[in-house]
Amino acid sequence: MVSEKLKRIIIAAVSNNGIIGLDNKVPWKDKEELDHFKETTSGYPVIFGRKTFESIGKPLSNRLNIVISSQSIAKKQSDILYFDSVRNAYTFLRKNKYKNVFICGGAQIYKNTIKHADEMLISQMSFNAKGDAKFPQINLKLWKIESRKTYENFTLIKYTRK
Ligand SMILES: NC(=O)c1ccc[n+]([C@@H]2O[C@H](COP(=O)([O-])OP(=O)(O)OC[C@H]3O[C@@H](n4cnc5c(N)ncnc54)[C@H](OP(=O)(O)O)[C@@H]3O)[C@@H](O)[C@H]2O)c1
Repeated sequence: MVSEKLKRIIIAAVSNNGIIGLDNKVPWKDKEELDHFKETTSGYPVIFGRKTFESIGKPLSNRLNIVISSQSIAKKQSDILYFDSVRNAYTFLRKNKYKNVFICGGAQIYKNTIKHADEMLISQMSFNAKGDAKFPQINLKLWKIESRKTYENFTLIKYTRK
């Protein structure tokens, strides 16, 4: 039986109007936000949906890169781990005694994981954006705001479960 505790942390940058992507890209560039993402996730496993991973185009350095795809078997590659479900990725991480994992999108993966994630780090951007990918609605009956930190173009909001 695998019973190790694994903290599942969603990390996302979300525009004022809930957008996270357009044409399989993030529709803004904010260096401070990218630096925050890199600093926070470095050294930890990161999970991406196949579309987001293809949009990034290469594995992120200094992190165990996990990609979720229904075609996982066909896509084995030595520096990236593919799984056919987020749950199978968690099982692998628990078996290998990882304590934290960052869930890095995109929209499909956030929608699947917001139901069970333990924590969320949301960079709430200070502007609206046009897009075709949205972050799911955050239900404040289930989540509480633990902290806020203000940056130039975003507020980093940490949510924990009530
Ligand atoms: N602003 C941010 O913080 C942020 C972060 C990440 C991504 N994004 C944006 O989000 C957008 C991409 O989101 P998206 O929803 O289109 O794609 P996605 O979630 O990145 O990837 C979707 C793919 O993941 C796989 N997948 C998802 N759920 C699965 C399941 N239950 N079982 C098996 N495979 C599953 C499937 O791959 P297969 O088709 O191979 O089966 C599916 O096509 C882009 O615009 C990206 O830039 C924004």
